[in-house]
Amino acid sequence: MEAAISLSGVTKTFGKFTAVSSLELTVPKGLTFGLLGPNGAGKTTTIRMIMNITKPDSGSIRVLGQEMNEELQQRIGYLPEERGLYRKMKVVDQLLFLAEIKGVDRDTAMRRLGPWLDSMDLRPWINKKTEELSKGMQQKVQFLGTIVHDPEILILDEPFSGLDPINVILIKDFLSEFKKQGKTIVFSTHVMEYAEKLCDRIALLYRSKKLLDGTVREIKNLYRDRVPLPPPVEPEPELEKIFIKAVEESGLTAPSPEELR
Ligand SMILES: Nc1ncnc2c1ncn2[C@@H]1O[C@H](COP(=O)(O)OP(=O)(O)O)[C@@H](O)[C@H]1O
Ligand SMILES: [Mg+2]
Repeated sequence: MEAAISLSGVTKTFGKFTAVSSLELTVPKGLTFGLLGPNGAGKTTTIRMIMNITKPDSGSIRVLGQEMNEELQQRIGYLPEERGLYRKMKVVDQLLFLAEIKGVDRDTAMRRLGPWLDSMDLRPWINKKTEELSKGMQQKVQFLGTIVHDPEILILDEPFSGLDPINVILIKDFLSEFKKQGKTIVFSTHVMEYAEKLCDRIALLYRSKKLLDGTVREIKNLYRDRVPLPPPVEPEPELEKIFIKAVEESGLTAPSPEELR
């Protein structure tokens, strides 16, 4: 099991407050890893230390066997918790700008992003200013910004926050596709359902400490006798799928930018 990311004895304090405490963490290559925990658990601090935005007080962090450096940054796609795009910039320029920073030329960027612009219904919006887009749309643009350089590792801080159910599905599909391509994905969330569906491995943080770490299967087995099982349920269609079906059957197409204004 080769590690894409490994943290050893990592501690981070802010004054007297310990945000991350003696953390040991290994993210194997090619897997999807969920960093779980309630607000304030230390997820963002951990991610920011991996990205070398914040320095740990002690401990060591390795990404693809190295300390974080510029060359390594180019091999990672990072979605920060605070989303920032240039409000006045056109979507297409925004994406090309993000591509340029990563050393990707225009043609390559558009070729790479093309299928996503279509599947995410962003194509009609690419010549609009970012500020004209809904929050969900902006978040999808930001997602595309994280993959424009075809990174080996995706590190996403709360990628699902603020998304409506349709966009959650789009992002889930997007992550599944990445996973299929053998990329390593790390994402944080406080929504257990997303983790359960998407992750090979998870770690649960709580008040700066890691309480659980393992595959979803391992962790479930560990708690099987101590946590009540849900009552058996008749299989029934999920509301999410019903919604998609209803939209399909309506024969209506996605609203155009003009209509949404
Ligand atoms: N720059 C900072 N200064 C002081 N406290 C901070 C700072 N960044 C994070 N914290 C504190 O560290 C704890 C963990 O925060 P964070 O890593 O953002 O948690 P999570 O992402 O799991 O919600 C929180 O209590 C937060 O208030
Ligand atoms: Mg956070």
